Amino acid sequence: MKIMIAGDYQEMSSIAANIIAEEIKKKPDLVLGLATGSTPLGTYRELVRMYKEGKLDFSRVITFNLDEYYGLSPTDPRSYHYYMYTNFFNHVNIKPENIHIPDGMAKDVEEECRRYDEQIQKAGGIDLQLLGIGVNGHIGFNEPGDELLTNTHLTNLAPDTIKANARFFESIDEVPRKAITVGLGTIMKARKIILLASGREKAKIMAELLDEDAVSTKVPASFLLLHRDVTVLMDKEAANIYLKKKDGCCGTVGV
Ligand code: PGA
Repeated sequence: MKIMIAGDYQEMSSIAANIIAEEIKKKPDLVLGLATGSTPLGTYRELVRMYKEGKLDFSRVITFNLDEYYGLSPTDPRSYHYYMYTNFFNHVNIKPENIHIPDGMAKDVEEECRRYDEQIQKAGGIDLQLLGIGVNGHIGFNEPGDELLTNTHLTNLAPDTIKANARFFESIDEVPRKAITVGLGTIMKARKIILLASGREKAKIMAELLDEDAVSTKVPASFLLLHRDVTVLMDKEAANIYLKKKDGCCGTVGV
């Protein structure tokens, strides 16, 4: 696991976008796993900027998003479909047929999950997966529990997640209680992973994650310790407790 600590959110976002850009340049038909939430917004902004400056071409890139709220339509401004189009897809030359996001309105959810996994498999699996992390250690919507599922599935959101995501809704009661998420197996099979963490509220979980050398279903992100090619990229605020425990060391830390 490679641990990188950026000075601030902007620097973290530029580093992430540069890693993604390099991978697209190496493999123009890259299969890119994408995340939503506040954390990757800066990364998307940087990627859009690179595209607009003529430095990056998304015409052959294939994307798969991690998750979607169950019961929200793609036109709902709080859906991840809406987020992805407004923050990223509408501003780059990606082909609509190369964009994949679970259908939160699917009548047959099991079939939708099966179809999504099949599409990922048909594309050859994820080359590069971008991840955020929940305050409870979730990745995608794989929430802490007694077991973690490997494939795409309908899941109940954890109380911590509902609370954290309430900021995107008028009230906490409006936050969907369920979501469709890719499973931990899909994430772990990605060839390369970037985990982004930004802000003070992530400092505790990042210290917990990086100090442990054990995996636990109670901290889904801990399974990343078993992956061959993970870059953990944090801003200083998210790294704060981790750095204090490491005696105030700073800069780029390779593990
Ligand atoms: P955030 O969400 O980027 O909005 O903090 C991350 C996550 O829940 O995975």
